[in-house]
Amino acid sequence: MRIYREDDYCAMSRRGADILAAQLLLRPDSVLGLATGVTPMGMYRELVEKNHRGELDFSRVRTVNLDEYVGLAPDHEQSYRYFMQRNLFDHVNINPDATHVPDGRARCMAAECRRYDQLIEDLGGIDLQVLGIGRNGHIGFNEPGDEFPLGTHVAELADSTIDANARFFASRDQVPRKALSMGIRSIFQARRILLMVSGREKADIVAAALKGPVTPRVTASVLQLHPDVILVGDREALSGL
Ligand code: PGA
Repeated sequence: MRIYREDDYCAMSRRGADILAAQLLLRPDSVLGLATGVTPMGMYRELVEKNHRGELDFSRVRTVNLDEYVGLAPDHEQSYRYFMQRNLFDHVNINPDATHVPDGRARCMAAECRRYDQLIEDLGGIDLQVLGIGRNGHIGFNEPGDEFPLGTHVAELADSTIDANARFFASRDQVPRKALSMGIRSIFQARRILLMVSGREKADIVAAALKGPVTPRVTASVLQLHPDVILVGDREALSGL
């Protein structure tokens, strides 16, 4: 695992954008696995600026997002499709048909899970997967449990996840209780992983995930076994390493 220890959120965002840009320079038709949340927002801003300066071309990029809330329409302000449009896709020259987010309003969730796994396979797998980490150690919405969820699945959100995400909704009651999430198999099979972490509140879980036992109780711990992880964090989040 390569570790970049940056001073603060801005520097972490710039470093993440440089790594992602290098990936696209080397392979312009990369399949990017993308994440939502506060952590990668700054990186997306940097990528938009690189695109506007003519330094980065998204025309051949394909993307698959990690997750989506069950029940939220794509134009719902808290849906992850909406997040991606607003933070990245609407501002760069990406082909809209090449961007994929699980359909949180699919009529049959089991079929949607199968479709998403097949889609990732048909794209040839993920070249670079961007990940954040939840306070309970989740990646995507792979919540703590007795075993690693392998395929795309409907996740029941942990109470701590609902608490953490309530800040984006008018009240805690409005946070969806379920989400579609890419499973650990697709994430683990990504050829390269860019794990981004920021803030003191992540320090304990980052240390537990990367120095503690590999266990489905902390799903990010599986990244210890991956051969090509780049960890980019600010000093606070990396203070326990
Ligand atoms: P955050 O979310 O980037 O908003 O902290 C990370 C996550 O829950 O995976």
